[in-house]
Amino acid sequence: MQKVTFKPHELPYQINEEIKYLRANIQFCGDDKKVILFTSSVASEGKSSITLELAKSMAQMGKRVLLIDTDLRRSNLKHQITNRENVKLGLSHYLSGMSNLDEVLAVTDSPVMYVVFAGPVPPNPAELLACKRMTAMLEWARKQFDYILVDSAPLGTVIDAAALAPQCDGSAIVIESAKISRHTVQGVAQQLKDAGCPVLGVILNKVEKAHGRSYYNHHYEYRKEYKK
Ligand SMILES: Nc1ncnc2c1ncn2[C@@H]1O[C@H](COP(=O)(O)OP(=O)(O)OP(=O)(O)O)[C@@H](O)[C@H]1O
Ligand SMILES: [Mg+2]
Repeated sequence: MQKVTFKPHELPYQINEEIKYLRANIQFCGDDKKVILFTSSVASEGKSSITLELAKSMAQMGKRVLLIDTDLRRSNLKHQITNRENVKLGLSHYLSGMSNLDEVLAVTDSPVMYVVFAGPVPPNPAELLACKRMTAMLEWARKQFDYILVDSAPLGTVIDAAALAPQCDGSAIVIESAKISRHTVQGVAQQLKDAGCPVLGVILNKVEKAHGRSYYNHHYEYRKEYKK
């Protein structure tokens, strides 16, 4: 198994609090919400930053957590670790049948936090993510972990996350504050709903301090509306 060390993130106190708040909100969604998809409308709204910090935060409280980087086109999770040379295999190797599950799994400095990196960019990301091996990985992970955080490509831009949505128990839409229109977010929410994946909430990211909470704001107004 691969072994990786994440760079320390010196998060300001308030940001740490927001991540804890997000963690608590996810826990309160119930223990049937284990596999959670994180997506957005466009690139760079903050999905990967948030899922990584959330995974660390869940591990800190002793939850067994698996973070899967399913953004096969534009992954940058590897930049967050100090020993990139240790990561030889990723999700695209596993999905294409070149590696088995144990080979693509990476253990972190926390013994309860595991990661699957994206691997090299394949020619057919959407098709690969829809294959039976992805289902098999999630089925296996459900038995091993308390939470499986699925970091994905922006659903408003590429279709990849739609293949994952039916296999997840719920989803969260990351929104970069003051950048994305309500109409666009509603479109993403509708796609998730159509795929049978309830939207548990939205995470408003990159919020200006003057607007209230400094970093992550989240509310769960979609929760009832999109419940299965
Ligand atoms: N709350 C924040 N405040 C300031 N910068 C942030 C915040 N959240 C994320 N960023 C920065 O924004 C950039 C994009 O973040 P990140 O890679 O997490 O987004 P992403 O949605 O995963 O992007 P992609 O669609 O490319 O995968 C990074 O440089 C990250 O450090
Ligand atoms: Mg990302």
